[in-house]
Amino acid sequence: MENNETDGKGVKYYRLSEVEERNSFKSTWIIINNKVYDVTKFLEEHPGGEEVLREQAGGDATESFEDVGHSTDAREMASSFVIGELHPDDRDKFVKPPVSTSVQESTSWWSNWLIPGLAALIVTMMYRIYTAEEA
Ligand code: HEM
Repeated sequence: MENNETDGKGVKYYRLSEVEERNSFKSTWIIINNKVYDVTKFLEEHPGGEEVLREQAGGDATESFEDVGHSTDAREMASSFVIGELHPDDRDKFVKPPVSTSVQESTSWWSNWLIPGLAALIVTMMYRIYTAEEA
């Protein structure tokens, strides 16, 4: 099947579209660090609750997984649910957010200066008006 390509070492590659379909409770797949996990049977056992896994179902859960600061035990446990890897052509789709963050940073750089700058301008104008009236 074209969707289930493997590399020379027998790693099974899944396309993103294929993972996205597995977002129900009949079948729940998530992606963490480009690896595809089938957590269907783990949902009820997850100490963090099944809801959080459902929310990530069919998509990339790397950030949420890392944010929680899962223990080494949790990571080892996770490795037993790996069923394959995300197809290399689909990985770029998750690399993009950091790029947009840097764009946001430059936007906030402007707004960070714009507001104090405007405030300073208004204060200067008011000062000038007051000192002009006094004279
Ligand atoms: C295969 C994937 C996962 C496995 C095997 C796993 C396993 C575990 C384990 C063993 C714990 C207990 C605490 C620890 O040992 O760190 C835990 C807690 C937790 N997990 Fe996961 N987890 C997975 C994915 C996720 C994802 C994707 C999320 C977020 C969307 C998540 C959110 C949480 C939360 C919120 C807790 C509770 C932390 C707390 O109460 O301190 N987990 N998980």
